[in-house]
Amino acid sequence: MRLAQRRAVRAHRAAERAFRAGASEFEIHMAYCAAAQQDATEVPYQNIVALNTHGAVLHYTELDRVAPAESLSFLIDAGASHCGYAADITRTYAGDCASEFQAMIDAVDAAQQAMCAGVRAGADYRQLHLDAHLALMGILREFGVLKVSPEAALATGVSAAFFPHGLGHPLGLQVHDVAGFAASDRGGTIDRPAGHPYLRMTRVLEPGMVVTIEPGIYFIDMLLDEVKARGHADAVDWARVDFFRPYGGIRIEDDVLCTEAAPENLTRAAFAG
Ligand code: GLY
Ligand code: MN
Ligand code: MN
Repeated sequence: MRLAQRRAVRAHRAAERAFRAGASEFEIHMAYCAAAQQDATEVPYQNIVALNTHGAVLHYTELDRVAPAESLSFLIDAGASHCGYAADITRTYAGDCASEFQAMIDAVDAAQQAMCAGVRAGADYRQLHLDAHLALMGILREFGVLKVSPEAALATGVSAAFFPHGLGHPLGLQVHDVAGFAASDRGGTIDRPAGHPYLRMTRVLEPGMVVTIEPGIYFIDMLLDEVKARGHADAVDWARVDFFRPYGGIRIEDDVLCTEAAPENLTRAAFAG
């Protein structure tokens, strides 16, 4: 799995360079595959290469052939395989003229690293997910998008409009590896927390498990319309939503090994190497 990380990180770097050079999504994807030395059938899942508002489409796989007039933002979720094992990594970048969006990326990055530090033996992944909601809503409050407390946003379901997927999932031979809900090796399932239907992991962490930690903040009109329809429009500063909408969204995803002691962040180690 460490070798899969190294291969993916090399390709992530090539993709960022292509983005900074003004490439189209398709060109960035090709730069990624060339650097990974894996083509689209060899990488462990279809690359998500999203410029601007495409970052708000969670499983965006269209790969526009033409670059936009201006690339404000770039979200890439792309992995690599080694001997069948997967890496699953997401990064988000701001274009040169996007300082407030860059500040929001930095805030999500700091929060994400704190979440990764929570990958400890005995930690309940459901609680990590709920804590992530609160941390992300704290960021939206700080940036003036949210007008209510993180706790209120979580209780009313407003937080799920901005963070509509789970914190992460088990990773191994499969990208969404098996047994994320297993109560024990004899069977049974651990339910998701009510109101969080997309969480893919509900177990208490044990040494040897690898999980992803992939918080995100997105500006998705369809979900924000539901916030209004459910009577929570006052919880949001819509002018701030209008400001951030052109950037699409932010996701930062690392693959983290739970150990007997401090977690080993396989992805950050590869980026540092
Ligand atoms: N790339 C798929 C996922 O992050 O779950
Ligand atoms: Mn993932
Ligand atoms: Mn991913």
